[in-house]
Amino acid sequence: THVVTESCIRCKYTDCVDVCPVDCFREGPNMLVIDPDECIDCAVCIPECPVNAIYAEEDVPPDQLNFIKLNVELTQAAGWKSITKRKEPPPDADEWKDKTGKLSELVR
Ligand code: F3S
Repeated sequence: THVVTESCIRCKYTDCVDVCPVDCFREGPNMLVIDPDECIDCAVCIPECPVNAIYAEEDVPPDQLNFIKLNVELTQAAGWKSITKRKEPPPDADEWKDKTGKLSELVR
């Protein structure tokens, strides 16, 4: 599967959604995740993300490994719904794009 990592939090640009051939993105209040049961590992979303938030599971950086589990949890337990069309990012998205340590900002 592919995994959405911390950079997405509070950025949520949604460019990734438009190119996904299997509609595997799920939307939370301030980030997206990928449903691992739907992702076909085509990788077309990777270059679309302006903040490089998306990785193949085997390429997730060591400090982002917790996001592999989080994508599963937020897809399944949190009941995040499918998103299939690009939408406007949050108005302050650009202010968050270079920030790290954003996990505490995640709204479930
Ligand atoms: Fe997030 Fe990047 Fe998609 S910021 S919503 S993973 S384009």
